[in-house]
Amino acid sequence: MHDEALKGGERWVRPWWRGAVFYEVYVRSFADSNDDGIGDLPGITSRLEYLKRLGVDAIWITPFYPSPQKDHGYDVSDYYGVNPEYGTLEDFDHLVERAHELRLKVLVDLVPNHTSDQHPWFQAALSSPDDPHRERYYFADPKPDGSPPNNWESAFGGSAWAKDERSGQWYLHLFAPEQPDLCWWDPEVPQEFERIIRFWLDHGADGYRIDVASALFKREDLADRPMVEDPRTGLPIPDSSFKVIDQPAVHEVYRAWRRILNDYHPDRVLVGEIFDPRRQSQYILPDQLNMAFALVRARWDASLWKRSIDVDRRAAPGPVAAPSWTQSNHDLVRHVTRLGGGFTGRARGRAALLLLLGLPGQVFLFQGEELGLEEVNVPPDKRQDPFYIHSGGKEAGRDGCRVPLPWHKGQLNAGFSTADPWLPMPSGWDHFAVDAQAGSADSMLVFYQRALALRRALTGMLPNQFRWRAAPEGVLLYEHGRLTVAVNFLARPMVVPIRGRLLIASHPLARSRNGRLTLPANSGAWLDNLG
Ligand code: GLC
Ligand code: CA
Repeated sequence: MHDEALKGGERWVRPWWRGAVFYEVYVRSFADSNDDGIGDLPGITSRLEYLKRLGVDAIWITPFYPSPQKDHGYDVSDYYGVNPEYGTLEDFDHLVERAHELRLKVLVDLVPNHTSDQHPWFQAALSSPDDPHRERYYFADPKPDGSPPNNWESAFGGSAWAKDERSGQWYLHLFAPEQPDLCWWDPEVPQEFERIIRFWLDHGADGYRIDVASALFKREDLADRPMVEDPRTGLPIPDSSFKVIDQPAVHEVYRAWRRILNDYHPDRVLVGEIFDPRRQSQYILPDQLNMAFALVRARWDASLWKRSIDVDRRAAPGPVAAPSWTQSNHDLVRHVTRLGGGFTGRARGRAALLLLLGLPGQVFLFQGEELGLEEVNVPPDKRQDPFYIHSGGKEAGRDGCRVPLPWHKGQLNAGFSTADPWLPMPSGWDHFAVDAQAGSADSMLVFYQRALALRRALTGMLPNQFRWRAAPEGVLLYEHGRLTVAVNFLARPMVVPIRGRLLIASHPLARSRNGRLTLPANSGAWLDNLG
């Protein structure tokens, strides 16, 4: 699994995850093995061959622990088990075993910032104002006027504090009230998470995706966020430069975790859910995390995409650190929709895949993007996302990207389940089903398979040498070793003066002839510049 490459004259071993393609499995919506309308671990196991054929190297499974599901698994009540809806610990062991047979790695989602309010620690903390477990959370007295201890806001809207009626104190929740934040300054908390990390490594996990990775420690003074004047409206707004999270102490925790992973094997990985490129260089370090996310969500415009790529490349300069390119995940509007939706959105989605897949670094895919799925407008009475619920319906929430996967054409609920799925399957979605696309050469699925296979074939032949090349306005053009990548962002065909053998194109009419590459509207291509 290790390639060797030359770096500054020395040989260094390239770990499996460098340049790997990861696939995010949203467990509740991926595959349902027992027809109860809810995805589960045996469902994932039954589809590992599908993922192998797709061409990914690793999967990241969203939280499958026992949980009241107030934030669909990101509210954990027991870090050492499996939610009965999703299966058993044995099912997890089978999943890992089968994945490893297929040479797929498995990442577990770790949620260290908060527990569920049903976690035994929090329940004990609520039991009495003197209970020692209160130290493991943030309990604080209200202000003299009875209002919350400070003005911090929850990511899901409203105050980040909820009242503990029994004691009159308040507790902190940066997300839903059912997700009380752990106090990492209390030594019991880091100790417990070291046990949790070992537990899943002992069960064969190849690493972790760390939820809200920069938030674990909050500023100790719990000071109010200062208010500043909004330059546009003149009204007071919270100062966004004030630091609540991202405290230096978090780096000690990641150094300790890195040492634990290294004890198992140095190629176990830690991927931090950190999107802000300005902070990543402090985390992606040989003694801390291997990766953070390089999220490209710019509008479909060549110069905006170039800027976004450059910012992330500067944040994680190779070869030890490299960006982990991503367009979609379970918290975002699906990118085909963001890119314009329908025929145009899918054409741009194909071109965008070639653009990101050709870059140095890793790629993270979100389940269903290989089918060209779009955001779904889930009927309001079926929505379940706490973001929707806690915003009083002002925010659409994230259910629209979490709709179950369509597997079979012509079947009830597109083959996901014979029972009603936890979020309704949109009518007509069997059209996008895996078996509807698998045999069709011009489908999105086959395009993803081809692009991933090519990328795999090129790995090891692509040194970390990257350069933009001059291109007509509206076109991005770069070279990564022997690979040349060109993408036309415009709504009209463009001709790019460039040589090379066409390896793959996102549009059937792309042509490379006599030193001229013709790219139809919203399309991209890979050329072999040695061929
Ligand atoms: C992360 C997860 C998101 C969750 C939040 C709170 O951002 O990706 O789904 O709601 O953390 O755990
Ligand atoms: Ca099920």
